[in-house]
Amino acid sequence: MTYSISIEQSKQLKTKPADETLGFGKYYTDHMFILDYTAEQGWHSPRIIPYQPISLDPAAKIFHYGQSVFEGLKAYRAEDGRLLLFRPDRNFKRLNISNARLSIPALDEQFALEALIKLLEVDQDWIPHSEGTSLYIRPFVIATESALGVAPSLEYKFMIILSPVGSYYAEGIHPVKIYVEPGYVRAVTGGVGNAKTAGNYAAGLKAQEEATEKGYSQVLWLDGVHKKFIEEVGSMNVFFKINGTVITPVLNGSILEGITRSSILELLEHMNIPVEQRQLSMEEVYQAYQDGTLEEAFGTGTAAVISPIGELNWRDEKIIIQEGRTGELAATLYHTLTSIQHGRIEGPAGWVV
Ligand code: COI
Repeated sequence: MTYSISIEQSKQLKTKPADETLGFGKYYTDHMFILDYTAEQGWHSPRIIPYQPISLDPAAKIFHYGQSVFEGLKAYRAEDGRLLLFRPDRNFKRLNISNARLSIPALDEQFALEALIKLLEVDQDWIPHSEGTSLYIRPFVIATESALGVAPSLEYKFMIILSPVGSYYAEGIHPVKIYVEPGYVRAVTGGVGNAKTAGNYAAGLKAQEEATEKGYSQVLWLDGVHKKFIEEVGSMNVFFKINGTVITPVLNGSILEGITRSSILELLEHMNIPVEQRQLSMEEVYQAYQDGTLEEAFGTGTAAVISPIGELNWRDEKIIIQEGRTGELAATLYHTLTSIQHGRIEGPAGWVV
């Protein structure tokens, strides 16, 4: 199938916000991309149109059964003016993994990337310039068939919207306080934890809300069976440095395979720092803390890049890491990865497009 993307230019361009006021996910660019799916036609009618609300039937399946997946990646402006993407092929590959888990028809990954590049060409003036800013890209698929029977939708929309962003956390790279969640769980193996689907995020809100009430930014998720092994932190993957070795939970089917996670693993190998992907219990982290070998902990994700953990509250015991300050490894990884993403230093082949 050959596709040709139609472009309808917006007649009324928006005023762009100042870089200092961006925050995360508050503003949207002038255009968006849409591709429709019907059982008869497959994916069809790709178009770039002015950013606008969409109209859906109240019986659309997305509203009732949550059949929806999304991605998150960023476009950066290099100092020489080039427009850069970080490993976008990985995002569209993962989108199809999520699609498969949610019974959503696969997208043509190459075409999805072409569509994104075309949309970025149209809205390239929205890529902010200041240090720490980027254009956050949100591709997503929703089930749009109006039918209340519980069965995969026969109609979908794949869309891409763009949002100029500053730091995910208002404080920038700054250690956060994390509550080790004793009750709620994020996902179990066999569920949808390894798919980037809306329901995972909805399911995490209550724990986050309760942690916030206790004065913590996010929760540390433990496994859903034993509530013993560490899985993720908030909506990020998590890493611990214990006695010189960096440990991150092994992908077990309930953990999302983060693109930042994979990139950090590769960078650590390159830096000759010992790395282990394995089960890691909260008991082991606590023991390391008591022994004085718990050196660092940090989350990794597209939005925040690296988010150092300054304190873990486990069973009302406060585990203070690096005296609540950003550790050297977290700072180095943040600096290295963001420098690669912004085209200031060369990363491994194929990372920056
Ligand atoms: C990320 O770390 O990029 C995330 O997945 C968070 C996003 C849902 C805002």
